[in-house]
Amino acid sequence: MEITVCTGDVLGEPSDLAMLATFEDEPLPAAVAGLLEPADFRGRAKQTLLLYPRGAVAPRRLLLVGLGKREKMTTETIRQAAASAVQQARTLQVPGVTVGVQGDLPLAPEVTGQAFAEGIELGAYRYWPYRTGLTTEETFAVEQATVFSKVNAEQTYAGVTTGQAIARGVMYARDLVNSPGYRMTPAALGEQAIDLGQRLGLAVTVLDKAQLTDQGFGGILAVGKGSTNDPRFIVMEHGAAGDGKPTICLVGKGLTFDSGGLSLKPADAMETMKSDMGGAAAVFGAMQTVAELKLPLHVVGIVSAAENMPSGDAYRPGDIVTTLSGKTVEVLNTDAEGRIILADGLFYAQRYNPAVIIELSTLTGAVIIALGAHATGMMSTSQELADQLSRAGASSGERVWQLPLWDEYHEMVKSQIADLKNIGGRPAGTITAGAFLTAFVGDYPFAHLDIAGTAWVDKPGKPYETQGGTGVGVRLLIEFLRRRVFRVNDA
Ligand code: BES
Ligand code: ZN
Ligand code: ZN
Repeated sequence: MEITVCTGDVLGEPSDLAMLATFEDEPLPAAVAGLLEPADFRGRAKQTLLLYPRGAVAPRRLLLVGLGKREKMTTETIRQAAASAVQQARTLQVPGVTVGVQGDLPLAPEVTGQAFAEGIELGAYRYWPYRTGLTTEETFAVEQATVFSKVNAEQTYAGVTTGQAIARGVMYARDLVNSPGYRMTPAALGEQAIDLGQRLGLAVTVLDKAQLTDQGFGGILAVGKGSTNDPRFIVMEHGAAGDGKPTICLVGKGLTFDSGGLSLKPADAMETMKSDMGGAAAVFGAMQTVAELKLPLHVVGIVSAAENMPSGDAYRPGDIVTTLSGKTVEVLNTDAEGRIILADGLFYAQRYNPAVIIELSTLTGAVIIALGAHATGMMSTSQELADQLSRAGASSGERVWQLPLWDEYHEMVKSQIADLKNIGGRPAGTITAGAFLTAFVGDYPFAHLDIAGTAWVDKPGKPYETQGGTGVGVRLLIEFLRRRVFRVNDA
């Protein structure tokens, strides 16, 4: 999509469709107020009204979008308003849309431009490579958007280009998640990494099964053993250490399909399990955006990729797996496989001597019970890192909520006959999974993000979501990384 920035008034510029976003109970411009009954549109959050101004203002169609109370507004408010404008343009089959806000915004111009661009781009996202016989209404694409800014157009435009790079990363992650499991195999993820490396100059290493065997990646090999689609271990590197540049390791769970293995899932629980590589997808999307934005950091993206299948060759409950770290894991349930492949990925991350390790995984059903789709579960060995991620979550619109890692939880994953066991019982299922992971990160500041509730939506709740993969994690990670670069530490 082409997005331009214009200074001035969205109502003064002729267009097929203009969106004017307004705060609750704040006055509308006189020319607009004359077009409606005041009670019909008060600017409440998510309220919309489509008007045909017939010359009263320059645009031929005017979409009013409510932003809610001014005090409650965040970047998320803008993101959603922008997305609803694009949705409306699609419905009306209007190729270009102009957007603006009534009154001054309590946000910096860059921040506003970024939120607009994210909403516009993500609002237009569709995943239809497998649909045939699409109608012209369905294939219609909005091609152009103009953001009207009353403040600094240059700064707003800088924000727009950042937002577009972030949205591309999110859409890449969505595509990877939405792609069916028989296509997006561990080998195919490896190919994606090589392609990404070639496109954007990342140093990429993909280890195949023979190399994993030679080098002792016992966790990934065990989980992948039951599948004819062999596992892979993927490393993508942006920049290099040194020059005071900190190393950040991003580790993703890449279960390209999770059947549960011999501890087979029931049919309905398996329906969406192609999305069990949502953590890996977030790492891919973030690496793409990091490279596009040329962030002055050393960022290492690490993905453990495998398919969890039952077969005569599959790993079994009762097996004891020796992970890359040398630590042994008693497997009691083959469906708690994510933590086993992550054990190898996290241990590997230590070789980069990272400032922080951030890991993302669709790890537990229990986090969906705790937080639903409205926040990612976070556990961390460093409160400073947790606070930084919380702030990045709030400003990116991808909220995280911290859960504790007290000693008692670590006790719950100790085994009698191995160093660890891979399940800790039903209570605190999300936390015991997180506690398990901390055994593999040494003393490095570590955050675990359980995105099982946020990586996939069945019923989209926001105008910039579609059914399927959300690409969650990309916006959060980029916000976290950019805050490090620009040393932003406010709330
Ligand atoms: N991939 C699942 C977790 C999951 C569930 C992700 C629902 C997205 C939606 C994970 O591998 C798993 O099966 N976890 C088990 C762990 C249990 C056996 C301790 C779970 O949550 O039931
Ligand atoms: Zn599982
Ligand atoms: Zn899984």
